[in-house]
Amino acid sequence: MDEHIAEAIGRPDLVRLDDRLLCLRFETMKVVSALAAVRRLLETGVIRRGDTLLDSSSGIYAYALALACHRHGLRCHIVGSTTVDRTLRTQLAVLGATFEQMEPCSDLKLDQKRRVARVREILAEHPGHHWMRQYHDAVHYLGYEPVAARLRQELGRERTPGAHPPGERITLVGGVGSGASTGALAHYLRAAGADVRLVGVQPFGSVTFGSEHVEDPEIIIAGIGSSIPFGNVRHAAYDVVHWTAFDAALSGSVELLRRHAVFAGLSSGAAHLAARWERALDPERTVVFVAADTGHRYADSVFARHAEAVPLEQLAPREVTGQDQLALPWCRMSWDRAPAPAQAVAAE
Ligand SMILES: Cc1ncc(COP(=O)(O)O)c(C=O)c1O
Repeated sequence: MDEHIAEAIGRPDLVRLDDRLLCLRFETMKVVSALAAVRRLLETGVIRRGDTLLDSSSGIYAYALALACHRHGLRCHIVGSTTVDRTLRTQLAVLGATFEQMEPCSDLKLDQKRRVARVREILAEHPGHHWMRQYHDAVHYLGYEPVAARLRQELGRERTPGAHPPGERITLVGGVGSGASTGALAHYLRAAGADVRLVGVQPFGSVTFGSEHVEDPEIIIAGIGSSIPFGNVRHAAYDVVHWTAFDAALSGSVELLRRHAVFAGLSSGAAHLAARWERALDPERTVVFVAADTGHRYADSVFARHAEAVPLEQLAPREVTGQDQLALPWCRMSWDRAPAPAQAVAAE
């Protein structure tokens, strides 16, 4: 039995979509990450009960941190972007978290910079607050260790005598925001001896893997990509990167619901699209993709437009060998565990 609802919400489902395609489906990702991070900070004396934890978030981290604070008797203050909707704002208020929303700003880079500046202002006024730094502090990796262990155990169970051990040859696909979920899952699986190919999914325009020069008028797949460098992205862990535009991700999301009855968000749709492609490329591997949130917040922007979804068989990425060849709506590039591009290196 769980001692707090956060434990139940944080535990993902592993759902088989076909013989080699699995969906690691979270109700709200980052709850496991925030819970473990807060636990570690309490254990090491960095924070104490009653303290205020502070961070900026575009959505699901705000909820995750509010739950972790509720669980451990801490206060929570969030500086949120305009993507935080009314439902979440209301939940945060009732959970006891304080929330301030930035003024609408069409420039994503400016919006991110303004949020960081506001956090610094708050810290200057309240030096006792602890800034969680979800984009930079590796403490956010810890919570994914049990998820990786369970994944490996579940895959290991499927081993048929004489066949290649499927639990040890995995292609892991997921959207990259802070980089903690994909980075941590790959790290812990690899540390346990699994052969993992890591595939990151990005929106065009994101600086993280060097696509900041490519304009996407409908950019912003909530939670993935960035206009500023993040220390938690470990570039050298990734083998392949996909960039998807809004329409391609929409098709991936609608098809995930239509074919497999999984109602998940836009980054999940983008990961689904990339995962199906990777699955076809390597018959030896089991492909697992991350579905980070449910489809509710995308009901109007994505699912109501289901008639626009294109069957995934009709879509294919443009294979590129450098970021100068990137073009909408979908590209794929071998990253080959290269380091961060200069513009994506986070300052200490
Ligand atoms: C909907 C959604 N998908 C994917 C991600 C990416 O997760 P991570 O920050 O672990 O890279 C996020 C992060 O905010 C998100 O909100």
